[in-house]
Amino acid sequence: MRRARWRRCAIAGLLALAGLAPTGTLRAEYGDVIINKRSDQEGVRPVVFPHWFHRIRYRCKVCHQELGFKMRAGANDVLMTDIIDGKFCGMCHNHQIAWGPDRCELCHSGLPGLPSGIVGGAQTSGPGRW
Ligand code: HEC
Ligand code: HEC
Ligand code: HEC
Repeated sequence: MRRARWRRCAIAGLLALAGLAPTGTLRAEYGDVIINKRSDQEGVRPVVFPHWFHRIRYRCKVCHQELGFKMRAGANDVLMTDIIDGKFCGMCHNHQIAWGPDRCELCHSGLPGLPSGIVGGAQTSGPGRW
C-alpha cells in the first residue's frame, strides 16, 4: 500500500521535475541506444541508454535473457512502474547495485523528439551479427 502510494507520488511529482530539468547532461555517444517508445508521449525526455558502458560490465544474457530485453532498438515495452518494481533497468538501478529510479535525469537525458535507435546508426541485425 505505502509502496504503491510512494510510487504514484514519485512518478507524478518528479515527472514535473524531469520535464523542467536543465539540459546539462546531454551526451549521447556513438553506440548509445535511444529509447523513446513512450517517453515523448508521456512528457519526459527520451532515454539515452549507454549500451557499451553496460556491455563491458555484464554478460549479454543478463539483460537479453534473464531481464527479457529484446535485442532490437525500440522493441521493448518498458513502463516506469516496472522499473520501480525492480524489472528491466530496475533490476540494477535500485539503490543497491546502482543508483536508483529516482534519478530521472540520468536516464531521461535525450533531446525531446529523438527517435528510438542506435546513435551512429551502427545497428547490428540480430543474432549472429556481432
Ligand atoms: C534507470 C533508468 C531510468 C530512470 C532512473 C528513470 N527512468 Fe523513466 N524510463 C526508463 C526507460 C528505459 C523507459 C522506457 C522509455 C520509452 O519506452 O520511451 C522509461 C519510461 C518512462 C515513462 C514513460 C512510460 C510510463 O511508464 O509512463 C515515464 C513517464 C518515465 N519513465 C518517468 C520517469 C520519472 C518521473 C523518473 C524519475 C522519478 C524516471 N522515469 C526515472 C528509464 C528510467
Ligand atoms: C545492462 C543490460 C544490457 C546488457 C548487459 C547488454 N544489452 Fe544489449 N541492449 C540492452 C537494451 C536496454 C537495449 C535497447 C533495447 C530497446 O531499445 O528497446 C539493447 C539493444 C541491443 C541490440 C539492438 C541494438 C543494436 O545495437 O543493434 C543488440 C544487437 C544487443 N543489445 C546486443 C547485445 C550484446 C551482444 C550484448 C553483450 C555483449 C549486450 N547486448 C549486452 C541492454 C543490454
Ligand atoms: C545488470 C545491471 C544493470 C542494468 C539492467 C541496467 N544498468 Fe545502468 N548501470 C549499471 C551500473 C552498475 C552502472 C554504474 C553505476 C555507477 O557508476 O554508480 C550503470 C550506469 C548507468 C548509467 C550512467 C552511465 C555513466 O556514464 O556513468 C546510465 C545512464 C544507465 N546506467 C542507464 C540504464 C538504463 C536506461 C537501463 C535500462 C534500459 C539500465 N541502465 C540497466 C547497471 C545496470
